[in-house]
Amino acid sequence: MTPLHQVIINKNTKINPIWIMRQAGRYLPEFREIRKLNPNFIKLCLNEILSSEITLQPLKRFDLDAAVIFSDILMLPYGLNQKVEFKKNFGPILGEININEMVSLDEIDFVEKIYPVYKAIKKVSADNLMKNKNTIGFVGAPWTLLVYMINQQSPKKNLKQDFFKDNALIKNILLVLEKFLKVHIKNQIEHGANVIQIFDSWAGLLEEKDLPYYIYSPTLSLVNFVKSLKVPVICFPRGIGDYKNFCDVVNPDMVNIDYNVDPNKIIKEIKIPIQGGLDPKILLSDKENLKKEASKYLNIFKDHPYIFNLGHGMLPETDPMMVDYLVKFVKDY
Ligand code: CP3
Repeated sequence: MTPLHQVIINKNTKINPIWIMRQAGRYLPEFREIRKLNPNFIKLCLNEILSSEITLQPLKRFDLDAAVIFSDILMLPYGLNQKVEFKKNFGPILGEININEMVSLDEIDFVEKIYPVYKAIKKVSADNLMKNKNTIGFVGAPWTLLVYMINQQSPKKNLKQDFFKDNALIKNILLVLEKFLKVHIKNQIEHGANVIQIFDSWAGLLEEKDLPYYIYSPTLSLVNFVKSLKVPVICFPRGIGDYKNFCDVVNPDMVNIDYNVDPNKIIKEIKIPIQGGLDPKILLSDKENLKKEASKYLNIFKDHPYIFNLGHGMLPETDPMMVDYLVKFVKDY
């Protein structure tokens, strides 16, 4: 059994496997080189030769326990024929939603449009570097995708003022998302993904009263679907105030905590395996500080099934030497 599966499925507390959100990407010079020659981000994600190579780049450098496929959560609205573009120094920009077209979209057409993502997963999983390691597939949670689809750009500043005005539209988008997220998950698993992570990056934007409708209910449906395919599922409801209640209701196989979660408090509240937590900014400091902060998580979770990771994705300005130091430190702990 792979280290990740030993922790998630067997609840092994003796090992601390490690992988890092955004471990493939802009902090690596070898990625930036490929990126420079491929200015269209979506096209790059749909080039299975390059996207599988990028996925494996960090595994060539560091002794990580999993590969996370180089793709994006916004490949889903792209597959639904909503226009998606990435503008330099701005982020994603999405086009208008044609809900009638989305409701009647054929599963075969969706799969065909993003098929290279699945081919990349297959290539990565078959690589020699992947012996005894996991291939992590992922999706955006319905709420976070709804946010990008309606807001049409990052909600970093705020959601559009009239974001919630069209109840019928929201309901239909959520139904479309539930259907096609399952298709996307199933295809990733059929092509070799053996862990699924659900990113709810904007969970923190909702008031508590809205969590059942926008987060608990649609995420529970996905979690149960992944479980039915016998693959472990990790949820990352970033910024959700109440992780305990989320876990009680949604009950994923593992939860990734963000860097605002107090690890000493959460360990008393949550019984399921835990992943992550370290603030990605710590990787921008020095080795002594990194060692101190990483030890904190390893100590607190020493008798709890725990996979080392961050409390959000790695920052582009991270020095690869610090990642090297962290991976070795966690492995030798
Ligand atoms: O709203 C925002 O802050 C914008 C965030 C954003 C997304 N995609 C949505 C997303 C941005 C800037 C992108 C583009 C993107 N995606 C880049 C930069 C493009 C460039 O210029 O090179 C990169 C390298 C990616 C790749 C990517 N996105 C990966 C590999 C993953 C998931 C797996 C992993 O390694 O962690 C994503 C997921 C993703 N894209 C999320 C979001 C909101 C979820 C994770 C998160 O919250 O960061």
